Amino acid sequence: MTKNLKFSIVLALILFATTFISATNYKDIKWLKTAIDRSQEQLLAASEAYKTTQKNPRTFDKGKVIFASPKDWTCGFFPGSLWYMFELTKNEHFKTEAEYYTGLLESVQNRTNTHDVGFMLNCSYGNGYRITGNQTYKSVLITGANSLMTRFHPKVGLIKSWDNRKEWQYPVIIDNMMNLEFLCEVSKITGDKSLKEICILHADKTMKNHYRSDNSSFHVIDYDSITGQVLHKQTAQGYADSSSWARGQAWGLYGFTMMYRETKNPKYLEQAKKIATFILNNPNLPKDKIPYWDYNAPNIPNEPRDASAAAIVASALIELSGYVKIGKEYFNTAELILKNLSSDEYLVPKGENGLFILKHSTGNWPNKSEIDVPINYADYYYLEALVRYMKVKGITVYN
Ligand code: GLY
Repeated sequence: MTKNLKFSIVLALILFATTFISATNYKDIKWLKTAIDRSQEQLLAASEAYKTTQKNPRTFDKGKVIFASPKDWTCGFFPGSLWYMFELTKNEHFKTEAEYYTGLLESVQNRTNTHDVGFMLNCSYGNGYRITGNQTYKSVLITGANSLMTRFHPKVGLIKSWDNRKEWQYPVIIDNMMNLEFLCEVSKITGDKSLKEICILHADKTMKNHYRSDNSSFHVIDYDSITGQVLHKQTAQGYADSSSWARGQAWGLYGFTMMYRETKNPKYLEQAKKIATFILNNPNLPKDKIPYWDYNAPNIPNEPRDASAAAIVASALIELSGYVKIGKEYFNTAELILKNLSSDEYLVPKGENGLFILKHSTGNWPNKSEIDVPINYADYYYLEALVRYMKVKGITVYN
């Protein structure tokens, strides 16, 4: 082979590689461009508009923005959304805003009266530390994890979710699976294995007692605080004790997928797959895969949706798709959910609805609270799912 021929072949290979392997830009995909551009516009406007309140926005209900104080379980989601937007765009402005709204939550690290410290700190300080390596964030995370650990009682073998509920002694809700991610992260940061061991105990007992034979989950399991025996299997935010509250199923899917990531124990993967089957094969799951607020809500199809549950499922399915043979199916379903959430039906028009991103979530139907509204955790998991989606597909915003 002549030198010139060799050179031409190498050049052709390089051209081929740069054409077909180089990252796609998000602007080339119409629904994704709408999703990211609208999310940026809303987050920019919201972060500027709400600064004087010194609080994180939670929801937009009955024409008003409601804010989350550091006592509110949702207070970490808005800063978390800003961190994800910084990660996506590399726009320093989002970093500055994320730092400001994260900093409002410093006092959360000392809270010992709720399991939600995981949601509150991991989404805000956790993402901030992951992205920037800021050592002050690290110290808040470690203190917060120690506060959360005080809620684990060895005799029961689980982290207690709520205090001062007259009807329950030691309630543990399926949502609590999400707070394990925080403890696993801090366990990696500090090398303290006891945090991860507690996550394993909690996940194992949740798998045993929260799940029904059809792989749906109860919302609340109440334990005897002395013997650790199950006392009640009930709901707080679902339609009935025996029903399948949509967000609860989503929390479980996300939680067991995450526990597989952290432990590589196949029993968690099996559990996540079973939950995915329950959700995706449910006869009451609408064609667009955005569930009603409860899979057993009495007036389906005339029931409010829960876009937040869909966003959590999309994010979890993208992760799960990387662990299993039928990954393509999970990934395609997540893509469909994201495309639908990015349509006019679910995406908030620019400048409207309190500057949130997604419409049509349901917070607490039995309490008649936050029904068919935008809500900060729907936005957070939607953005997380978009970040995960783009990583898998090699799509970038900034090149
Ligand atoms: N308790 C958290 C939620 O409403 O999903």
